[in-house]
Amino acid sequence: MAQLLAEPTGTAFLHDDASWWRQAVVYQIYPRSFADANGDGTGDLAGICARVDYLAGLGIDAVWLSPFYPSALADGGYDVADYRDVDPRIGTLDDFDALVAALHARGIRVIVDIVPNHTSNLHAWFQEALAAGRGSAARERYIFRDGTGPDGSLPPTDWVSMFGGPAWERVPDGQWYLHNFAVEQPDLNWANPEVRADFVTTLRFWADRGVDGFRIDVAHMLTKDLSEPLPSTAQLALIPKDGNHPLVDRDDVQEVYAEWREVFNSYDPPRTAVAEAWVNPARVPLYASPTSLGQAFNFDLLLADFDAGQFRDIITASLDLAARSGSSSTWVLSNHDVVRHATRYALSSPRTGGQHPDATPASAASAWLRSRGADPALDRERGERRARAATLLMLGLPGSAYLYQGEELGLHEVAEIPDEQRQDPTFFRTGGAEIGRDGCRVPLPWTPGGTSFGFGPGGAHLPQPAWFTDHAVALEDRDPDSTLSLYRRALALRHALRADERLTWIETGREDVLRFARPGGWEVVTNFGTQDYPLEPTADVVVSSSEFTGTLAGESTVWIAPEGPS
Ligand code: BGC
Repeated sequence: MAQLLAEPTGTAFLHDDASWWRQAVVYQIYPRSFADANGDGTGDLAGICARVDYLAGLGIDAVWLSPFYPSALADGGYDVADYRDVDPRIGTLDDFDALVAALHARGIRVIVDIVPNHTSNLHAWFQEALAAGRGSAARERYIFRDGTGPDGSLPPTDWVSMFGGPAWERVPDGQWYLHNFAVEQPDLNWANPEVRADFVTTLRFWADRGVDGFRIDVAHMLTKDLSEPLPSTAQLALIPKDGNHPLVDRDDVQEVYAEWREVFNSYDPPRTAVAEAWVNPARVPLYASPTSLGQAFNFDLLLADFDAGQFRDIITASLDLAARSGSSSTWVLSNHDVVRHATRYALSSPRTGGQHPDATPASAASAWLRSRGADPALDRERGERRARAATLLMLGLPGSAYLYQGEELGLHEVAEIPDEQRQDPTFFRTGGAEIGRDGCRVPLPWTPGGTSFGFGPGGAHLPQPAWFTDHAVALEDRDPDSTLSLYRRALALRHALRADERLTWIETGREDVLRFARPGGWEVVTNFGTQDYPLEPTADVVVSSSEFTGTLAGESTVWIAPEGPS
């Protein structure tokens, strides 16, 4: 566990502890939307640097920076044109070094995002591949194929990209390249040793600059078996995802991570990594193993309803899975790819009495977005109440918690973005059928008024709604009942829960109430229902997600401190 030690000068520094990540609270910053120092409407590293005291006051252990590299922003920065530089709109390498130093001085570690499945089409390699022509070594870094049909004018396969539309794009000389995401994101060829070597150089480049860990984007998709004949989409669907699927979660991707592990372990303390791997749960331990990336995201809570049974099953299964790899579990309720959890929970609970019995929270959220936030009407208060309860439960769990900027303010998704101001490729590649992820990426409100709610002196790159005023940092900072105050209190107390990673369920006699014990006699109780749940009068409630009056109100969580003198 990371330990913050006080130096005689009064500044703080990080104790070199190799297992700091196991129970860390990691705060995700989407740099373009956090704080804008230079007033161009896009957040920047100097903006983050100016807010490090805010981050330190929150009580987090690490910051994860979503991509800040040079990019045409075809996919919010996940289209990287140069892996070893900073986008000039976001800053410079000097700004990056200054930010790392400022965060480290406050005991906060730094994780950066690595995007290895694809580059931007503006990356020097792809430009070279276009110019060099068919059969060239430059094209071998990507996945180029001839087309089908008499004149090759049809794509090599009928595969569909993750953002909608065909997964192949034709170049002027007639060949096609594979892009599993946007057209501007050509997939790299991980069978090419040059590609492998270059990413090792990138990892070392950032690790040498003091970066503590890496978040690996779509970690399960790098290696591919593209031997001919290529299967059709229908054929692909029949192939089990057991390590031999041609496109996803192949066993051979672990060879890449074994090599990266050697790089990570060559540093002291070893650099950490967390895999974004959407794979069968039984295969998650492969990525989370100490010989691989060491930790993997677990998105199950993020996909669940606000429902006691679902939460309990997920928590039990996730802890078991993490134990099998020797890793610790991760927990996520919101990130830059999904509708914010305050909003998901404000929609009618789909599987438990909502309008669409078969709908998942994600499909309910998409339907709500498609209606531009009109249908069903959001029960904002209920969403926030449930979000606070779910977060307080999550922060009481063993393992590491990943928070997404703005959730500590109780922010909702912004549905009311005009179509012409949308940026997400999902919106464009589905012809607007899917609204996309812009609504969770709107620049943060720091002040209740002023230019762009204090985000910066020059406006915001996505429009901020009027209701942001109620969630401004400056207001929540002074309000002891605000969501920001709740996060700060819970994070300050959480250190006491990190003595070990055990969790013991306590029966409550109610299906809609979960209760578990943590080391030293700490307990966490969540009432997912709407009826009060009486607690024993001796319970020493030290933090509560809603007003605590001796009984646990519906849709609330409390932490109970151990008995005895405090
Ligand atoms: C990232 C997305 C991105 C995609 C392609 C995802 O997993 O989180 O934001 O669009 O990878 O890079």
